[in-house]
Parts: sequence; structure tokens; C-alpha cells
Amino acid sequence: MDIERVFVVGAGTMGRGIAQAFAQGGLRAVLYDAAPGVAEQAFARIRSDLDRLVEREKMTEEQVAGIVSRLQVAESLDEAASCQFALEAIVEDLDAKSALLGELDTICPLDAILATNTSGLSVTALGRASGRPEQFVGMHFFNPAPVMKLVELVITADARTDVVATAVDLARSIGKEPVRVKDSPGFIVNRLLIPMLNEAILLLEEGVASVEDIDTAMKLGCGFPMGPLELSDLVGNDITLAVMDGLHAGLSGEKYRPADMLRSMVQQQRLGRKTGSGFTVGNE
Ligand SMILES: NC(=O)c1ccc[n+]([C@@H]2O[C@H](COP(=O)([O-])OP(=O)(O)OC[C@H]3O[C@@H](n4cnc5c(N)ncnc54)[C@H](O)[C@@H]3O)[C@@H](O)[C@H]2O)c1
Repeated sequence: MDIERVFVVGAGTMGRGIAQAFAQGGLRAVLYDAAPGVAEQAFARIRSDLDRLVEREKMTEEQVAGIVSRLQVAESLDEAASCQFALEAIVEDLDAKSALLGELDTICPLDAILATNTSGLSVTALGRASGRPEQFVGMHFFNPAPVMKLVELVITADARTDVVATAVDLARSIGKEPVRVKDSPGFIVNRLLIPMLNEAILLLEEGVASVEDIDTAMKLGCGFPMGPLELSDLVGNDITLAVMDGLHAGLSGEKYRPADMLRSMVQQQRLGRKTGSGFTVGNE
């Protein structure tokens, strides 16, 4: 199936970036958010981000005009009726996502594919809640979505092979590199990355090494652009904890137990850059 028009629900950080990525890739992208004015604000933000790229000579005015002409804000969810693909990027809540996907099922054409950008919920459960599990995939974009090349394509046991093939083609058509992963907690990236951040916090908690030395070791020893503690501050220590909790609940094994220090940092609202206090910020 050729997909020309996509519907993106949720115009927050991810939905806004994903809609822009689709429009940049040549597709028509329709953006909807339940909160009044949010999709319009997202559209304005995309516009100003693109204008900045023109100023920095990374894009031409013609390219920007083309992208903007392919983007549209929807007044209601009913506008999903004209799209062959609908992706949700709303709040990370199983009940909210399930209810929305059930609604999309009643609105979208029968052959439309539904997708989720969830980071931590079961894609299988969401697919079943959508009422069309065989036409459902996880499409996990990375922030900022217009820039990051990777898409984790999360494949459930229910998904039809032609649906997976269409999702692979769709991701490639907008210049992304899809990797296929079975529906499993943390998919690939978070399962590898977040326990490493947690282990760095354990090193600190056990007094094995200092913040600076842990980060320097991984930058100079492994060529990481950023040390694990600085990265946890950037991602948000609350997100690091939520992903660890999800891995611990979903995969048996003590190795996924979040560090006590991580939980206590989150309890103290020391979430990293977003609260100005964390492992590497706010301690000067
Ligand atoms: N932020 C990240 O780095 C990141 C990366 C990958 C995946 N994700 C996942 O993407 C999803 C969205 O994350 P985000 O950071 O963009 O969240 P966000 O809070 O920035 O945006 C969520 C948006 O969804 C809207 N919304 C909530 N319920 C809705 C509904 N029923 N119908 C329509 N709109 C609704 C809200 O008004 C809000 O604008 C989550 O599932 C998250 O786990 C986030």
C-alpha cells in the first residue's frame, strides 16, 4: 500500500517532530491534539524551527514552503478518515492510548495502518486495544524526530507481514533507518542504554568513583560523546527511573532493579537539566 497522507495524534515534543519528519519526507501530515490550541502552537514552532534552518543556510525557502504546505492541523479526530496511516504520540498511559486507538479504528479507512510511538507500553496490548492488531505496529522515533535517523519498528506476533513491510517502506521513504525488534520491554535502545546509566549511578552510589571520573572514563575509554551521568541528566532522571521500572517489571532479573540513589534523586525532584539539579548540574 502506498501511504501519502499520515495522521499524527498528540502534538507534544514527539508528535510535533514526527509530523515534521513526515512532511520533510514528502508526505502529507495532519497533526491533531486534544488540548485546544496545542496543534496550532506546534505548527508555529515547526515553522519557526524551519525558518531558523533557512537562516543558517541548511534549507532553502522553497524547501520550507514545500514542507509547510504538506502540514495541516486537524480540528477533530474525524479527519483521520482521509489518512492511510495514523500514529499516536499522546501521553504514555495505557488507558488513554487504548481509548484513542479504539476511536481511531472506528474513523480510519479499513485498510489503514495504526501505530504507536510508545517507549514503554506493550505494543501487543495497544494493538489489541485498537481492534486491528494485525494492522498495528510500534514506530518508536527518537527525539528530535526530524533529525534522528533511527526508528525502532516494533513488531508483534499479531502483525501481518505486508503491514510490517509497508511500515519499513514508510520509514525509509522519509529517510529513516528502521530496525526491526520484537515487542519486548525497552525494545533495543532503552534495554541497552538505560541499564548502563543505572549501572553508572550504582558506581557512584557505592563510592567506587566520582561523577567526573565515571563520565570521563566512558567518554575517553569508549568514545561516548557524553558520559552516562550527564546523559541521564539530559534524558531526565525521572525517565531513566521509569524505563528501569518498566524493564524490572517486564523482564525477570535483579539486574534491572533501579539504583536507590536514582529513585531518591527523583523523589527530591533532582531530575537533571529540566529542574536544574542532577548528577552533573546544579552542584557547582
Ligand atoms: N519525549 C521523548 O523523548 C520520547 C521519545 C520516544 C517516544 N516517546 C513517547 O512518545 C509519546 C509522547 O511523548 P511526548 O514526550 O511527546 O509527550 P508530550 O507530553 O510532550 O505530548 C503529549 C501530547 O499528547 C496530547 N494528548 C494527551 N492525550 C490526548 C488524547 N487523548 N488525544 C489527543 N491528544 C492527546 C497532550 O495534549 C500533549 O500535547 C509517549 O508515549 C512517550 O513515551 C517520547
